[in-house]
Amino acid sequence: HVLNIDPNAASKGAYEFYMLKEIDEQPGVMRHMSQNYLDDNGEPKVDQDILDAISKADRLYIFAAGTSYHAGLVGKTIFEHYTGIPTEVGLASEAGYHFPMMSKHPFFIFLTQSGETADSRVVLKEVNKRSIPSLTMTNVEGSTLSREATYTMLLGAGPEIAVASTKAYTAQIALQAVLAKALGEKLGKQEAKDWNLRQDLAMAAEGIQQIVDGKEKLKKLADDYLIKSRNAFYIGRGIDYAVALEAALKLKEVSYIQTEGFAAAELKHGTISLIEKGTPVVALINDPVTADLTRGNSQEVVSRGASVITIVGKDFAREGDDIVLPEINYYMSALLTVVPAQLLAYYASKDKGLDVDKPRNLAKSVTVE
Ligand code: AGP
Repeated sequence: HVLNIDPNAASKGAYEFYMLKEIDEQPGVMRHMSQNYLDDNGEPKVDQDILDAISKADRLYIFAAGTSYHAGLVGKTIFEHYTGIPTEVGLASEAGYHFPMMSKHPFFIFLTQSGETADSRVVLKEVNKRSIPSLTMTNVEGSTLSREATYTMLLGAGPEIAVASTKAYTAQIALQAVLAKALGEKLGKQEAKDWNLRQDLAMAAEGIQQIVDGKEKLKKLADDYLIKSRNAFYIGRGIDYAVALEAALKLKEVSYIQTEGFAAAELKHGTISLIEKGTPVVALINDPVTADLTRGNSQEVVSRGASVITIVGKDFAREGDDIVLPEINYYMSALLTVVPAQLLAYYASKDKGLDVDKPRNLAKSVTVE
């Protein structure tokens, strides 16, 4: 009989690994998000019952694991800026057994590509026991965390097969932005009303496309600086710090290079003792408020022998920077800043001859605690 091949089912096509295919799919995901979640006037399309429930919150709680947790760290800055609601982000594995203190009107958001992460499910059970409203943002329709939460929003990023999550991370950030704009407008926030999210998503699609078109440069940087090293650091401040955590996870989980993401200024409070001659340090400089300070921090590690790679926003670029990022709204900058890091991880793994899509000891969805 003829196999009923689902046209949407994952297939590598001409790609050697799913990870690169999924990195390359991110511009399309941004455009898809814009088409699916914004109306013709660029206004968010969010279910009214979700908005009614979340607009009653005096505090948002975002819980997740791994890369999804890192997406929540970025979501926090977006929600707080555009809605004015204090937002707490936590590791699901911690909150499940040490439940956080509740505000009077909490609202929980679960970020989960698979919708099956056991650590997150434990928290959702506690949330449901307390009859607290919750929303799951997931890439898998009908998944457990989707069914067990009060509300669901789907990423629509298409199947993500590589163990290392890439397009789900950027889709989670974009979907949090959609919700933040809708919520901020409902709360009468001028920043949210003035926010041209459709333009931001279009700039994200174009910016990511520009970065992935220049992927050969990232391959060379990975080959020159990373693949022979046993450790590496990512440093950044503000949103760049949140991206540094995600960038470090990407690199270590697929290339097995021990990598730490660090708040740029925090390095000198002890950890800088690990910097030796040739230690790779990737400086992420795309935060307008602290760009010069992080530049200074990257000089500190250079003076101790580090080999620094700079990934810099256009407005802060200097002669000799390795990767210059296209311009974008600061609150959406993670969508661009993370892409060179995804590519560095991909090439470090591939050029070490590793199985990029199936790193040792890892599963795509961690359904055990
Ligand atoms: C990300 O690259 C990892 N594969 C892992 O950290 C993952 O993000 C984490 O297990 C959470 O998975 P989820 O989004 O499906 O809940």
